[in-house]
Amino acid sequence: MEDLRNRLNAIDGGKILDVASGSGEFIHTLNHILHDFENITGIDKSNKAVFEGKNEFKDNEKVAFQRMDAYKMRFEDTTFDTVSISNSLHHFNDIKDVLNEMNRVLKPGGYFLINEMCCDEDQTEAQKNHILLHHWWAKVDSCFGSVHNSTYTKKQMETFIEELELDNLEIFEYAFPVENPKDENLTRKYLASIDPYIDPLKDKPEYKRLKEESEMIKQRIKEYGFAPARSVFFIGKKK
Ligand SMILES: C[S@@+](CC[C@H](N)C(=O)[O-])C[C@H]1O[C@@H](n2cnc3c(N)ncnc32)[C@H](O)[C@@H]1O
Repeated sequence: MEDLRNRLNAIDGGKILDVASGSGEFIHTLNHILHDFENITGIDKSNKAVFEGKNEFKDNEKVAFQRMDAYKMRFEDTTFDTVSISNSLHHFNDIKDVLNEMNRVLKPGGYFLINEMCCDEDQTEAQKNHILLHHWWAKVDSCFGSVHNSTYTKKQMETFIEELELDNLEIFEYAFPVENPKDENLTRKYLASIDPYIDPLKDKPEYKRLKEESEMIKQRIKEYGFAPARSVFFIGKKK
């Protein structure tokens, strides 16, 4: 994690575009960690996310949000010095189309940053609980028509990113450390979040299956605890 922090700390981001920004979770990271930048524009298709993002950064004149579809951005070619996407690849069905659209608006020589949780199996049982819970959230969201797929392995991500033919591709892997995955406050928080998440599904045919799955996940959280899954961070430059 130290290596990644140092690498990002050396980047002057210039004009940055953060795609599928939500309310700006990753923009907070960029804002704090980059050596410098001119401004950051976050785009998201959700009105709520854009509203919350604007509110979150109302005192930061270098950060702006726009409601926009990542598949069809209203930006000219080569507008940005840096483009980024964080924890959102699994929210798109056509990942290559989104990455190509990001590449279109990026200047030659500009930074392409991709940060994404991965589901590789060589993680602790507590981290696997994060992955299982995340995939279960995705299944519940999908019942309501949202695009929310399971997360990818590092290898799968590399396959998407390979096609961008980025220069100097660097790959970092990190996980936020947790001192005690079985900490009562931590596990209680996750256990308590499960039933309210599935309750709105009660009238749907998928409810029984997903409820059973949630009971299995609860048992695992009680047994092994909870820890953030590993993430993969790709940094490359457009040719
Ligand atoms: C899990 S959030 C990611 C938030 C943030 N980037 C982060 O690192 O936590 C995924 C976001 O993707 C957005 N999204 C999904 N499809 C999109 C699209 N076609 N265009 C723009 N945003 C989209 C959703 O609205 C949601 O806010």
